[in-house]
Amino acid sequence: MKFNSVVLLSLTSPCLGKIAAAKPQMGWNSWNTFKANINESIIKPTAETLVSSGLAKAGYEYLILDEGWQALTRDGNGRQQANATKFPSGIPALADYVHKLGLKIGIYSDAGIYDCDFFPGSWGNEELDADTYASWDIDYLKYDNCGGFQAGTQSPGERFSIMGNALKNTGRDILYSLCQWGNQFPWFWADQLSDSYRMSGDITSSFAKDNSGVCKTAYCLNTGYAGVSVLTMIRKMRELSGFQSPGSWADMDMLEIGTGTMTEYEEQTHFSFWAALKSPLIIGADITKISNTSLGILLNKEIIAINQDDAGVAVTYLPALSSEGSIQIWAGPLSAGSFGHVVLALNEGGNATSITIPWSGIPELQNSTRASYKVRDVWAAKDLGTIQTGITLLNVSSHQTKVLIVSRA
Ligand SMILES: *[C@@H]1O[C@H](CO)[C@@H](O)[C@H](O)[C@H]1NC(C)=O
Ligand SMILES: *[C@@H]1O[C@H](CO)[C@@H](O)[C@H](O)[C@H]1NC(C)=O
Ligand SMILES: *[C@@H]1O[C@H](CO)[C@@H](O)[C@H](O)[C@H]1NC(C)=O
Ligand SMILES: *[C@@H]1O[C@H](CO)[C@@H](O)[C@H](O)[C@H]1NC(C)=O
Ligand SMILES: *[C@@H]1O[C@H](CO)[C@@H](O)[C@H](O)[C@H]1NC(C)=O
Ligand SMILES: *[C@@H]1O[C@H](CO)[C@@H](O)[C@H](O)[C@H]1NC(C)=O
Repeated sequence: MKFNSVVLLSLTSPCLGKIAAAKPQMGWNSWNTFKANINESIIKPTAETLVSSGLAKAGYEYLILDEGWQALTRDGNGRQQANATKFPSGIPALADYVHKLGLKIGIYSDAGIYDCDFFPGSWGNEELDADTYASWDIDYLKYDNCGGFQAGTQSPGERFSIMGNALKNTGRDILYSLCQWGNQFPWFWADQLSDSYRMSGDITSSFAKDNSGVCKTAYCLNTGYAGVSVLTMIRKMRELSGFQSPGSWADMDMLEIGTGTMTEYEEQTHFSFWAALKSPLIIGADITKISNTSLGILLNKEIIAINQDDAGVAVTYLPALSSEGSIQIWAGPLSAGSFGHVVLALNEGGNATSITIPWSGIPELQNSTRASYKVRDVWAAKDLGTIQTGITLLNVSSHQTKVLIVSRA
């Protein structure tokens, strides 16, 4: 017996080590607002605002430079270099500035010879580039897929694992965020080699309207540049939510909260689903100009706690309680205390409606002998008391999502 337990311990101990992204990562990324037009005079005030707004304290710790930090050519030693007009102090000084604010810094590269705007990608230079980032004290790499199809005959798993290994070999803790657009179904291969992987083409700042060429499920392929709406991104997760697990997060792309196209209820819905589906929460808005309403949504502690819950289990779509095009019900377990479930009720339709959720329709509750549960309405910040059999939510507005925490009475 003793012997067995010793063997067991030694077999399992490597798994007890630190997982780089045990919780979905949180931060800010420059792309949704600035595209490749970034520079020091944007990034520094953003870093300061992450702290002064309370966002850093709420968990948004990574400040990520997307495409556009690089010069168009490598330097005399073949290293990637920053554009010195846009970043006159250089990236190491910027990293130092960001670290002194208590934040971490992320950078962007690409698994092709060139990235999406013909800045030098890392293909063929993975070790050199990983060493460069480590020497600059970088904490996070977003790694894109442009030009990847010209990179010869390597499978995406091979192309993306070269950089993963190069980052590990630097000895620095650098979070590896794959951006491979879901094209080759990374939920089947990226878990061993990255901390998160994008499950779709790019999001667009729209609640319901997709760009042309966007398809609705996880397994169909978009044509052209994606431009996926919030509702379609949520739709694609019906097939993927079961893949979510600590250290390997399906990434629903940067948040469009505060980018000016959505109502308050739509932004709440956006945040509720990204949180409960355990997506990384990366802000895409200009936080130096964001409205109080949008900032309040991003700062909602209880929604963030659902995202950062220890169990790391995403909510699942419940077709039997839902009605295509009008009502969506999703639910999943939380680790909080000994018992707790999160339930999302989205009114996708155009008019306010009531939504009924019987406890027996929630998988983990269906065989319970318990008749009543304690319910909290998270966005209303209100305890609704102990409720028997199920709940009817009255007057759920168009595009609103009610987030309920259902727990033992
Ligand atoms: C930085 O970028 C912003 C937005 O692209 C631009 O308006 C501003 O002039 C730039 N500042 C410098 C110093 O290049
Ligand atoms: C730096 O960026 C500016 C503004 O986008 C551009 O005009 C210039 O060519 C870039 N310089 C290098 C070395 O890439
Ligand atoms: C936003 O909130 C801040 C702090 O609570 C307050 O001072 C400011 O007046 C608010 N602005 C608007 C537009 O409501
Ligand atoms: C909302 O309800 C009204 C009145 O019943 C109906 O005429 C209208 O078509 C509905 N709108 C939508 C978007 O469902
Ligand atoms: C509940 O019981 C039914 C019937 O025995 C079973 O098929 C189902 O898997 C159970 N559900 C859960 C979540 O255990
Ligand atoms: C339903 O909700 C809307 C918006 O939240 C509110 O304006 C309206 O007064 C509510 N109606 C009822 C009958 O409670």
